[in-house]
Amino acid sequence: MSLNKPETTIHKILDLARWAPSGDNTQPWRFEIIDDHNFIIHGRYIGENCVYDLEGDASEIALGILIETLTLAATQYNCRLRADRREEIRQKPPIFDVQLEPDQTIKPDPLVDCIEKRSVQRRPLKTRPLSSAEKEAVSNSIDTKKYRILWLEGFNNRLRTAFLMFNNANIRLTIPEAYEEHKKVIEWRAQYSKDRIPDQALGTDPVLTRTMEWAMKSWGRINALNHYAAGTWLPRIEMDLIPGIACAAHFVIIANETPQQPGDYTQAGRAIQRFWLTVTQLDLQLQPETTPLIFRKYVTHDIPFTCVAKGRERARACSRQLEQLIGKQNANQAVFMGRIGAGKKAEARSKRERLENLIST
Ligand SMILES: Cc1cc2nc3c(=O)[nH]c(=O)nc-3n(C[C@H](O)[C@H](O)[C@H](O)COP(=O)(O)O)c2cc1C
Repeated sequence: MSLNKPETTIHKILDLARWAPSGDNTQPWRFEIIDDHNFIIHGRYIGENCVYDLEGDASEIALGILIETLTLAATQYNCRLRADRREEIRQKPPIFDVQLEPDQTIKPDPLVDCIEKRSVQRRPLKTRPLSSAEKEAVSNSIDTKKYRILWLEGFNNRLRTAFLMFNNANIRLTIPEAYEEHKKVIEWRAQYSKDRIPDQALGTDPVLTRTMEWAMKSWGRINALNHYAAGTWLPRIEMDLIPGIACAAHFVIIANETPQQPGDYTQAGRAIQRFWLTVTQLDLQLQPETTPLIFRKYVTHDIPFTCVAKGRERARACSRQLEQLIGKQNANQAVFMGRIGAGKKAEARSKRERLENLIST
């Protein structure tokens, strides 16, 4: 089957919604088309051993983002979209039955134009504070009865958050469990990648990028670099500290209750995508900063996520640092965080799998 030019409404909607973002561009979904009005989303979890996908949380968020994107894309074709999750079983990727209902009263949502435009920007942004109109627009883009935005603004807060990211990256870069993931998800010497992250979108300068490419050939090289050449310093300064300061603000999306069920993360994903698309609509840039929340869950659930004792210790310290920054209750209820600001659009970005590769029969 070739879908170079999608013909049916379902194909057109899926083709646009493919641009939904997912952690490390894993696109944890496949579609099964039933007829002109019904299709199935087969969710996937990134991997049993993926350190960034504890209990499938990151995949559930991505699936929520996908469902919100599908819902918006459907308005382009004057359709209402309804996605029903089949039974919720912990640790098991979900299946959604999706129904399209044509309704001429439904008009295209203005956010539709931003679906393909939206992209992560990992490079430094302008420090100009967000205007109150910008903050209001993004804060009101989500269901305010269920979520609220906590802003970390001003030099002091940006610096504190940048140091949280800087310390947190020390976990990522020194545990073999994260190395295994990074090895899989970076496409080297690339501006675009259909199924991974191109190295040019990482936000590092060319010399550091080449050093990382060399080092990531084996865990032994990474270990040696970390031990003898203070190997984590440069990547952490370039990828965490500088961008953490060079932005308008950091934000945390806080749910009204601590997420418990996988479906709570799917719901959060829907809010996250509205938030991110509204940021794009305002011509602002965004980078998710999710690893402090991921490692904190390991700490609060007492799960030994790495064989490196120092890594577990660092995660406990970062968890305390996050609590000091936003408060313990907020940290428990946080579903997403990131940095935001005005700036140039990313020149390198992840692309997506072709639609025909996402459709299963
Ligand atoms: C749930 C989720 C978590 C993410 N976490 C991070 C993160 O911690 N750091 C980061 O730089 N990007 C993160 N991203 C961004 C993805 O890597 C990015 O969206 C994906 O590679 C697709 O690229 P695009 O957004 O440019 O289309 C995250 C995205 C999602 C949906």
